[in-house]
Amino acid sequence: MSRPNGKPFLWGTATSSFQIEGGIHNDMSVWEETGRFRNNGLDPRIGNAVDHWNRWQEDFDRLTELGVNSYRFSIEWARLEPEPGKFSDEAFDQYSRMIDRLLELGITPMLTILHFSHPAWFHDLSPWHTSSAIDAWLRLVEQVSRRLLDRVPYVVTINEPMVWLLAAYGDAKFPPGRRDLHELMDGLRHMLIAHRRAYDLIKAHHPDTQIGIAHNMIAFRRARKGNILDDDMKRRLHLFYNLLIPKAFVTNRLKFRFPLLVKIDEPIQLDNRIDFWGVNYYYRMHVRFRLRPFRPFDMLFVPRSKHGLSDMGWEIYPRGLYKCCRWLRFTKRPIVITENGIAADDDTVRIRFLERHLEFLHRLRAEGMDIRGYYYWSLFDNYEWLVGKSVRFGLFHVDYDNNLSRSIKPSGQYFARRITSSV
Ligand code: FCB
Repeated sequence: MSRPNGKPFLWGTATSSFQIEGGIHNDMSVWEETGRFRNNGLDPRIGNAVDHWNRWQEDFDRLTELGVNSYRFSIEWARLEPEPGKFSDEAFDQYSRMIDRLLELGITPMLTILHFSHPAWFHDLSPWHTSSAIDAWLRLVEQVSRRLLDRVPYVVTINEPMVWLLAAYGDAKFPPGRRDLHELMDGLRHMLIAHRRAYDLIKAHHPDTQIGIAHNMIAFRRARKGNILDDDMKRRLHLFYNLLIPKAFVTNRLKFRFPLLVKIDEPIQLDNRIDFWGVNYYYRMHVRFRLRPFRPFDMLFVPRSKHGLSDMGWEIYPRGLYKCCRWLRFTKRPIVITENGIAADDDTVRIRFLERHLEFLHRLRAEGMDIRGYYYWSLFDNYEWLVGKSVRFGLFHVDYDNNLSRSIKPSGQYFARRITSSV
């Protein structure tokens, strides 16, 4: 298989700090303590997550058991800057040791700077819908760049800006819990500008570091065949959710129109400053037009592909991985599949999921698409946003009743075999 950049294909697993580390006090933990997450009826509990903060060394041995040559993880802002402007040497030291250990093990680190969670103080002082967020975040990026990034070849600045913004400013599921489309669009603008400034800042010190955004993409389909209104809604959602951000990088314009809801058309100086697009792909959704003012559509999971639904209720649609990557060809940037995975108690479902998605990965590469890596979400079962520990995404099983002990699943062994046979 061709290696467009002359480097080995990155095979990895992905995690995020809040979902695995435990012992974190941040905006999310405050929401849990004050009962805000209970609103959706699921009452997720983070507890000590899977105690990775204390068990990271043994967990890294599990990476070697899988045979991955890369690992995507995130750093927890709330640990690094517990009070505004006051950075924790202790937390930086631990992340630094983690990076050194990965390198010792021959595992290339991919570090995500912002993966959904913020310090508890953040939204009161400098929320993303105000431009003060940019400077607040850049203060962190500057420290991270100086103290950690000299040894990190791949950096994701922000994980899934669209998903986070929709949850935080669209339907109030994440802190700061707002429902305001204008604030959402302001937040988007600020995040993109923050990315560009982070890009320049990091490149100034580490010109070889490859910097991207992990962009969540959905394969949309119209719910009713021959229904032009469903078709039109589908097209608009695709333009908004999948393409608005990458297009802004290529065109230096933030442009989107959704009748009665959003109209935005403004310059944004991004100059395509991104080295790769991370694609986080999970599912397909069916779009149905609804005659109502504020949300003129429904988005549904329907098991139409015959692969069924995951334990999250998400439609398994392997071809979507292929489509999403191809939709990004116009960006003229390499792609890394920074997340792809499934919640399944029945591990045979995960093996089938991997088989089918890896088939499409193979096809993309065989067709000459510049895909640089694939990261399965996730290394082990962990806390899932809004749902808690009731769903299992891991290649390693975590026994929540038995001291959080980890054991490899058959899907983990399957992934390990696939990696070995592809090298
Ligand atoms: C993605 C998130 C990741 C994880 C998976 C299941 O949207 O980036 O943290 O929760 O979904």
